[in-house]
Amino acid sequence: MDDGKSTLIGRLLYEARAVFDDQFRALESDSRKFGTQGNRLDFALLVDGLQAEREQGITIDVAYRYFATAARRFIVADAPGHEQYTRNMATGASTAGLAIILVDARKGLLPQTHRHTRIVAMMGIEHVLLAVNKMDLVGYRQEVYDAVVDAYAPFAVACGIGSVRPMPISALEGDNLTAPSPSMPWYDGPTVMRYLETVDVSRPPSVGPFRMPVQWVNRPGAEFRGFAGRVSAGAVHPGDRVRVVPSGVETRVRAIVAWDGDRPRAEAGESITVTLGDEVDVSRGDVLAAADAPPEVADQFEARLLWMGSHPMIPGRPYLLKSHAKEVRASVTSIKHRVDVGTDARLASRTLTLNEIGVVTLSTAQPIPFEPYAVSRTLGGFILIDPFTFETVGAGLIDFALRRASNVHWQAVEVSRAGRAGMKHQHPCCVWFTGLSGAGKSTIASRLEQQLYAAGRHTYLLDGDNVRHGLNRDLGFTEADRAENIRRVAEVARLMVDAGLIVLVAFISPFRAERRLARGLFAEGEFIEVHVDTSLEECERRDTKGLYAKARRGELPNFTGIDSPYEAPDAPEVRLVTSGLSPDACATHVFDRLP
Ligand code: ADX
Repeated sequence: MDDGKSTLIGRLLYEARAVFDDQFRALESDSRKFGTQGNRLDFALLVDGLQAEREQGITIDVAYRYFATAARRFIVADAPGHEQYTRNMATGASTAGLAIILVDARKGLLPQTHRHTRIVAMMGIEHVLLAVNKMDLVGYRQEVYDAVVDAYAPFAVACGIGSVRPMPISALEGDNLTAPSPSMPWYDGPTVMRYLETVDVSRPPSVGPFRMPVQWVNRPGAEFRGFAGRVSAGAVHPGDRVRVVPSGVETRVRAIVAWDGDRPRAEAGESITVTLGDEVDVSRGDVLAAADAPPEVADQFEARLLWMGSHPMIPGRPYLLKSHAKEVRASVTSIKHRVDVGTDARLASRTLTLNEIGVVTLSTAQPIPFEPYAVSRTLGGFILIDPFTFETVGAGLIDFALRRASNVHWQAVEVSRAGRAGMKHQHPCCVWFTGLSGAGKSTIASRLEQQLYAAGRHTYLLDGDNVRHGLNRDLGFTEADRAENIRRVAEVARLMVDAGLIVLVAFISPFRAERRLARGLFAEGEFIEVHVDTSLEECERRDTKGLYAKARRGELPNFTGIDSPYEAPDAPEVRLVTSGLSPDACATHVFDRLP
């Protein structure tokens, strides 16, 4: 911020002749009207139009600008430096080959310099151009420049950045941008443009075994079936043996079809369609890989996660994970630690909020093909999506699969679920009561259990207060703890339904996300959500446990309905409006709905 980023980009565009005549004329007149540079051109105005849009509240993720010189074509990802734009920076960084980190020579290294360098390192950018800017304001003195460079170098090494090229510049005066600066004869390195044109940012694309994530199954007619995608590593030829991951089926490549006809070979970076020798099952999100060196497949990972959601990340809560073309349900199982991006310190944390980075363990609903991000940005990078709003809430990098996952297998048992249910002569199910504290959940559930008992059914009642005395004794009432509370009781209820019981669950369960997670554990028709819909006023009037009074006095924080939200269900199987109905009548109403 204010380090001269817009001026640098604007001036580079201008000197690279990437500015159209009309933009140039607008720049001249804008400089006269709004410029901060007297009679001179204010190059920042070429770029700052966007800033104005930002101030008007228009969200711009990353502004990309294109320009070319005789030697190279460039895409500038203009990522604002403010802390709240960390996610934009990560978005830009995930596709970049080089990062320019600007430092104001007068100020030296700032916390944001450290933060940006860490993000750049985390996203795998190998080249950093350290632009020590505003040299004109420090009399072009070499000692000032040297001091910044000397302070930065060990830090960059500690972050794991392989190549740092420092340069003394003045974006405003144009020193060392395209022409060597006459004011700094002591500097004999390249100019910014010269360096950008010559630095080797190519990754050795064709090394490593062949991988192509399938983006699209192309089946125009019965006789043609091709798998389209972009080769992410290695090379492929007709006749090569390939494996479909995760299914593991092997076959041969029959042909490689590209826009200009059949090909004898395709390599990393190329978009192709492949036809296969056998009629094998391949879907979007699968990976075609060299048969003798396929990528790993796993459903539990350790990953670095940058949180981008306005709502905090809650472990256990269901999200959609998208990696290349693969989309699966996933949740964060635990946060190992949060990373202080300024100091790299590891901090204990139970959630991640906007722009925080953490090391987490993740679990996906099905195994997915992957590679560590350090090996493959394509197969190691992912985003998390909120399943309700479809907002992108996180960006992550897979570091490795958790070995415990691959060593735990599903054990087959001989007595079946149907057998256990049949012996009890009943249809097992989960009746899930949700509602405010004091709404009547426990009372109605208990009456229902009595009615079922009288009818000879085998039941069990899981009540929030009771389960919190044992299994969930370690949990409080924060959003994260409530989410975990529900996750555990939902898993217990599932086991009990599996055992053949009719399970009644009476928990406030205030969040839609966790109720949906619970529903997802059961078969269609086996989960009966009952909203005990008693108004807050009525609950507070009854206040059987005296908790509302306590909460109103400020002695009980995070109390549902007072300073912690209750999200009512949109489409419960049963909605009980309790006022005027006896608990028995409510219970009978639910009884009649059971399978
Ligand atoms: S849930 O939100 O995590 O589903 P749960 O049903 O287990 O809640 O527990 C709710 C019970 O805990 C309430 O009936 C009440 O007796 C007690 N309780 C104590 N503190 C709170 C609080 N801050 N918010 C709601 N209930 C609380």
